[in-house]
Amino acid sequence: MRTEQPKMIYLKDYQAPDYLIDETHLTFELFEDHTLVHAQLVMRRNPTLSADLPPLVLDGQQLELLSVALDDRELSAADYQLDDSHLTLQPTAASFVIDSSVRIHPESNTALEGLYKSSGMFCTQCEAEGFRKITYYLDRPDVMSKFTTTLSAEQHSYPVLLSNGNPIASGSEEGGRHWATWEDPFMKPAYLFALVAGDLWCVEDQFTTMSQRAVTLRIYVEPENIDKVQHAMDSLKKSMKWDEEVYGREYDLDIFMIVAVNDFNMGAMENKGLNIFNSSCVLAKAETATDAAHQRVEAVVAHEYFHNWSGNRVTCRDWFQLSLKEGFTVFRDSEFSADMNSRTVKRIEDVAYLRTHQFAEDAGPMAHPVRPDAYMEISNFYTLTIYEKGSEVLRMIHTLLGAETFRKGSDLYFARHDGQAVTCDDFVQAMEDASGVDLTQFKRWYTQAGTPRLEASASYDAAANSYRLEFRQSCPATPGQAEKLPFVIPVELALLDAQGRELPLQLVGEEAPVGRSRVLQVTQAEQAFTFINLAEKPLPSLLRGFSAPVKLSFPYDRDQLMFLMQHDSDGFNRWEAGQQLSVQVLQELIGQYQRGEALVLDQRLVAALRSVLQDEQLDQAMVAEMLSLPGEAYLTEISEVADVDAIHAAREFARGELATALFDLLWQRYQANRELSRSTAYIAEFTHFARRSLQNIALSYLVLSGRPEVLAACLEQYEACDNMTERLTALAVLVNSPFESERATTLAAFAEHFKDNPLVMDQWFSVQAGSTLPGGLARVQALMQHPAFTLKNPNKVRALIGAFAGQNLVNFHAADGSGYRFLADQVISLNASNPQIASRQLSPLTRWRKYDDKRQALMKGELERILASGELSSDVYEVVSKSLA
Ligand code: ARG
Ligand code: ZN
Repeated sequence: MRTEQPKMIYLKDYQAPDYLIDETHLTFELFEDHTLVHAQLVMRRNPTLSADLPPLVLDGQQLELLSVALDDRELSAADYQLDDSHLTLQPTAASFVIDSSVRIHPESNTALEGLYKSSGMFCTQCEAEGFRKITYYLDRPDVMSKFTTTLSAEQHSYPVLLSNGNPIASGSEEGGRHWATWEDPFMKPAYLFALVAGDLWCVEDQFTTMSQRAVTLRIYVEPENIDKVQHAMDSLKKSMKWDEEVYGREYDLDIFMIVAVNDFNMGAMENKGLNIFNSSCVLAKAETATDAAHQRVEAVVAHEYFHNWSGNRVTCRDWFQLSLKEGFTVFRDSEFSADMNSRTVKRIEDVAYLRTHQFAEDAGPMAHPVRPDAYMEISNFYTLTIYEKGSEVLRMIHTLLGAETFRKGSDLYFARHDGQAVTCDDFVQAMEDASGVDLTQFKRWYTQAGTPRLEASASYDAAANSYRLEFRQSCPATPGQAEKLPFVIPVELALLDAQGRELPLQLVGEEAPVGRSRVLQVTQAEQAFTFINLAEKPLPSLLRGFSAPVKLSFPYDRDQLMFLMQHDSDGFNRWEAGQQLSVQVLQELIGQYQRGEALVLDQRLVAALRSVLQDEQLDQAMVAEMLSLPGEAYLTEISEVADVDAIHAAREFARGELATALFDLLWQRYQANRELSRSTAYIAEFTHFARRSLQNIALSYLVLSGRPEVLAACLEQYEACDNMTERLTALAVLVNSPFESERATTLAAFAEHFKDNPLVMDQWFSVQAGSTLPGGLARVQALMQHPAFTLKNPNKVRALIGAFAGQNLVNFHAADGSGYRFLADQVISLNASNPQIASRQLSPLTRWRKYDDKRQALMKGELERILASGELSSDVYEVVSKSLA
């Protein structure tokens, strides 16, 4: 048991820093068995505070202090206090210089935080609090400093030496070593510091900014990956152009670099001028990366680039404000992706993801507001709520203000706060000042956790030609927040006539109709809107484009949903109607299964999907989205008590019935698209993503028929395709199919062919981890012994353990608790090596309240076993203790 519990840190305790660091001069001497770090900090008393001189408390963890001097005076142990996480000393003047030297051990850093080694290269990850593992510092985002960095290393193994900003000098040393100095002209907090030393190749390109400055672009990778960089480079140039056009933001240094590393806890990091990426978010080419991977690379490159303004030029005052940069930047990258690809499809994907995963987080023990009030370990707050819900909050402001006014607000925000560390309130203030709109009540989205429920009902008065829509909003209690006040909920809607046309929208009291699709604001717990001059009873199309992150309910019957699927002029809501219809049908099947009855599929779902498949005008990606039944995780999220087996059985039954009933249409659509794939070389472009997504979902249905011609098609696709999207789909389809011998041979052939490509092997692990055939745990345990697997690499952990616990719900939730025990064992072992990854893998266990009593007891038992397993990191301790509270 841990002796000392990690402390809670509260927003209300925020205090401005006692001291500032105007200049930071760093020197790194990198060696194989240690690294020496010398830091010179030019400091002064914070001028906004009193003139007295409180003790200076520097953050520092796992550092071996070699020397420290104050204004050139070497300090002895009597002059300072040293503990696990601080170095405290007493300044004697308002301005002073601290010089320190420490020894650290990147070569044995398995937590991948601070300075560490990945595949032989040195790299860093400092956000949020990794810099304190590099040197003694004021490691907080509101302390901004001008950095110069000199690094030296053995030349042969580390020919490339990089840091933030511009290179200003370099040279060789005796003994085969060399050095380089980088200077970053922009003030930045320590979390944006980065350093890289390695044997890397780069692809170089150029971008001319809107004011005609030439910027050098470089993407550094290990030599064997130099052929997989072009897509990221193209994405970078598109991002730079988009940010100029849509936000008026220009890049500010002469060089912008991206480095790909194999061992990385998250997706990527926006270090000033030197972004460091998980290689999975950089490398992409047809033969080795799927369409989804190509789109992810484009989105993450954009996300990190956009941070240069939303995050770096204007940063966070403290970590409670994390969504200030992350929510905003996700909103920016999702709009970018929408512009580069299909807007409706992007929205569908984002909403499906939010509703499945963020809503679950909001309903669980780790629920927190977009701007949290307290945390134990900030690494645990890089969450779906901060990122995805934060982005939805920004989208709502955008919806309420309109694009043009929103842009005025963002211009004002960047101009007003450039070079500052600010709060979410500052952001909202800029939006208010630019628009004149009072967002006081709206700000509850930042402070109240939980997913609001919005119940809508309607009545038509034929005599008065009026239609009354009533809304009731509520929000369930979340940890520490029993009562919630009403939110401002923007509800975009239209009213459709019997032909599906949008009717003019005129509210009582309005002189004339105001458009045919408009945004209402629900601001009270109960609120009604009456529309007039409606000669017939309309059907409402509500919450168009998912205009607010709420759980909306409206008593549609299945025929109305079928009508909306065909006629709604809002593409998102057409898909949404199909999802709601599927949910109703699947919940009926779940009930039948639970009562031990024979399962009978409502033929209306078959009819609805038949007309979708017959619609040659409809974007093929939309056809694919509409054919995708709500996932098991989403069905779990919307259940009061989730019956894992019933959910799985019901969904598989529905898929099988659809496959049989729609075989011919699916087969036609499959073959037409496969024929196109055969005759055109792979293009990473959205119309091609669209047709491949339909081709591939069609194949996944077709295989359920067990027919030999489908097996033949699957094998043909696997063998003859020129890209990973088709190959991996064929593999996944086989892995989940009854064709046992083909499954085994294809898996073996795939592994043999791609054994030297770790990112492809991640896919190979994931496909098998996700297979819901019986015996899932045993397969995963066997795969952990595979030579390509290692717990040290976060991508491998996610590909195998994460995919099993997160996507293979029937196997993970096996009634004997074996899946839970397995996951707890992995968490206990990862807790010691990589706390951030350990803590993230825990999340399926935190959802224990969703399941039946027996499973609840088993899951809680495993959480308790983790708690009792020994010294826990603050990361794991926080999640486990909150889950058991
Ligand atoms: N700021 C990075 C991004 O938005 C994420 C870094 C998270 N780091 C961490 N240790 N949790 O992409
Ligand atoms: Zn980010």
